[in-house]
Amino acid sequence: NSVFQGRSVLAEKDFTAAELEYLIDFGLHLKALKKAGIPHHYLEGKNVALLFEKSSTRTRSAFTTAAIDLGAHPEFLGAGDIQLGKKESVEDTAKVLGSMFDGIEFRGFKQSSVEQLAEFSGVPVWNGLTDEWHPTQMLADFMTVKENFGHLKGLTLTFMGDGRNNVANSLLVTGAILGVNVHIVAPKELFPSQDIQDIANKFAKDSGADLVITDDLDKGMKGSNVVYTDVWVSMGESNWEERVNLLKPYQVNMAALKKTGTPDDQLIFMHCLPAFHDTTTEYGKEIEEKYGITEMEVTDEVFRSKYARQFEEAENRMHSIKAMMAATLGNLFIPRV
Ligand code: CP
Ligand code: NVA
Repeated sequence: NSVFQGRSVLAEKDFTAAELEYLIDFGLHLKALKKAGIPHHYLEGKNVALLFEKSSTRTRSAFTTAAIDLGAHPEFLGAGDIQLGKKESVEDTAKVLGSMFDGIEFRGFKQSSVEQLAEFSGVPVWNGLTDEWHPTQMLADFMTVKENFGHLKGLTLTFMGDGRNNVANSLLVTGAILGVNVHIVAPKELFPSQDIQDIANKFAKDSGADLVITDDLDKGMKGSNVVYTDVWVSMGESNWEERVNLLKPYQVNMAALKKTGTPDDQLIFMHCLPAFHDTTTEYGKEIEEKYGITEMEVTDEVFRSKYARQFEEAENRMHSIKAMMAATLGNLFIPRV
């Protein structure tokens, strides 16, 4: 058995740098196969359940197309479709789904739900985002960084915005594992929790990653190769006004990018998406009416600039999720890494 067979992917902290890099490189390989039209049916005959308590465009689409490309059958089970959380416990749901499906993706609120699914289903469970972590996003993100720079170690990624959300947590810890310097630039109220900082610091000691958590834009931006942001109000959050006011100074705009001092060919912008960069959506119009702003975490100018990589990043969700599903469930041998 390979080091991945039968394993769940619940949080990045459960994986070594070599394992994460293996999955990233496997994603790049599967992307090349896809582009060349070469079949890669590593999950022939398998059934995978896709559970979503929260909405999704990319994660749902990535898991669905990845499963089909791998020869598996994906089954979408939305929040309103199944008994989970209403009439039935996570434990009972896990036992039933595990008896019929070969793998389970879960997106929802509590990290404990995805952990219980893994504990009681007996099949690999993949975390498609919880309030705490977004590990499949990290595979795509660091795959995108590697694609752009050819390597990871020693690069600097700055996340600016809500430093306490799932994506910020995951970037801090994954960067620390991989030896990528991570700067979190946020108002003090939204700094990562001490627990998350402790986990990241432990990994950074081994990898040599430099971690900086600051409310000072100049300090946080300096020397950055990747400037990353995410929505100011994540799914499940509601304190809009407070967040908008706290985060206004932490918008990724051209002035913020300039503060990096990084040459143009060594600087990219990333966003996990969805993004609020204009008022063309219903949501955008509502925000404009309530708060008088037309852009939030990123300006339209940066979003459409030569630095922007968010759509490549979104595409890479599929290739990297494919790598993760194939490695943990596929009919293929992966040597120990
Ligand atoms: N980035 C991401 O997870 O997007 P979705 O919420 O659309 O899945
Ligand atoms: N932090 C965001 C990420 C969406 C992909 C949220 O949880 O809503």
